[in-house]
Amino acid sequence: MKTIIEPNSSLIGEIEVPGDKSISHRAIMLSALCPGESVIDNLNLGEDVMNTLKFIQDLGTVSAVNGNRLNVQGGFSGLHAPSNSIWAGNSGTLVRLGAGIATYFPQDTIFVGDNSLSKRPMKRLVEPLSQMGATINGDGKNSTLPLTVSGGRLKGITYVLPVPSAQVKSAIMFASLSAISPTEIVETAMTRVHSEELFKLVGIDLEVSRNGNEHRIYIEPSMPQIPLVIKVPGDPSQAAFFLVGAVVSKQSTVIAKNLYIGRERTGFISVLERMGGKVMIEKSPEGYLPVAKVEARSSKLNSVEVLPDEIPTLIDEIPILAIAAMAAEGVSIFRSVSELRIKESDRVESIIGLVKSFGGRANATNDDLYVTGGFDRSNDPVYVDAKLDHRIAMAAAVGSVMTSRIVEIDGFDGVATSYTNFLEDFKCLNKT
Ligand code: S3P
Repeated sequence: MKTIIEPNSSLIGEIEVPGDKSISHRAIMLSALCPGESVIDNLNLGEDVMNTLKFIQDLGTVSAVNGNRLNVQGGFSGLHAPSNSIWAGNSGTLVRLGAGIATYFPQDTIFVGDNSLSKRPMKRLVEPLSQMGATINGDGKNSTLPLTVSGGRLKGITYVLPVPSAQVKSAIMFASLSAISPTEIVETAMTRVHSEELFKLVGIDLEVSRNGNEHRIYIEPSMPQIPLVIKVPGDPSQAAFFLVGAVVSKQSTVIAKNLYIGRERTGFISVLERMGGKVMIEKSPEGYLPVAKVEARSSKLNSVEVLPDEIPTLIDEIPILAIAAMAAEGVSIFRSVSELRIKESDRVESIIGLVKSFGGRANATNDDLYVTGGFDRSNDPVYVDAKLDHRIAMAAAVGSVMTSRIVEIDGFDGVATSYTNFLEDFKCLNKT
């Protein structure tokens, strides 16, 4: 089925995007381990997060969703291995973090998922979790789904992450909680720190130290001491679509309220600023997590070079930054983007396809992605195959505001995994 985005030329207004997806997954999994009743407000209600909720129900927790508030009765001692296989849908975060939790049980937990997830390599989990003493088996040389995980009392390890991955880091962190000895994880590029943030909030014994780009996390095995009570801030990766939309279109201003703005998630804002984008950040004074109101306005953009170290801080925003690069003068370069090849689609190819759909130019050589400024300025409808990849689909919709052209999108359904009300919110901001 095709989704048709009608042409509009501006985005104007205030928006509160859904709760952050990464934080929502972690909050749910952590609440399963917390004693008593955890309360998670402003939960992301997309399919990915709902599959994570089903996962913790299968572990023996009791929960209730009311609007976007979730109450969970949890506690480590009441958990058991699931008696059925776990449907992870499209969610890599569920499989990877869930595998960390599945190592607590001597019985098998089996993760299965949709076609896209079934192609994604889980090999990167096998190495550290096996070193800790878990048994973890996937299919073929990339250890793809179905993935079977079992464990018991694991031993702590020291592990230097070979590729920057918040998901693998978090899997080890979850696994380390019930181990018999401490675990140390070393990252050489910063990735999102939501597991660290939430673990501290529930009293887990965790030390974090930074030295330049090196990040060490030392965990003494311990389970949460108190329930998790949290309001999930807005998802910067979702707001990025509207903020970039404002920057690349005429007479536009978008204000996104209550956004998570930790630096490991907001590389796209630094890049937009370097391109000449008008972006203002007003930090909120209170609260445990870094939150702000972010405003973006129509801007004249220049091309940009995004360096390898920045990639983990904007890994999910490259599709929408490619739209910004089409609106810019000159050739933009995204260095070392090979991780994009194993996302919900081969995003290097999907982004090249997206740019070409709008009559723009993009190519990849070695690990670098190049996007040349400019696009077809005719009024012809644009056709995009989003390959069921939510971020490609939402970026394509924003392309309609930049070009004022009708955009027909195949595979838009993928958006339900992360942003159920995307089209409604987009329409509210859309002005002709
Ligand atoms: C995520 C980490 C990133 C990101 C994904 C969510 C997380 O993946 O692309 O959308 O919640 O930890 P990697 O850890 O594989 O880079």
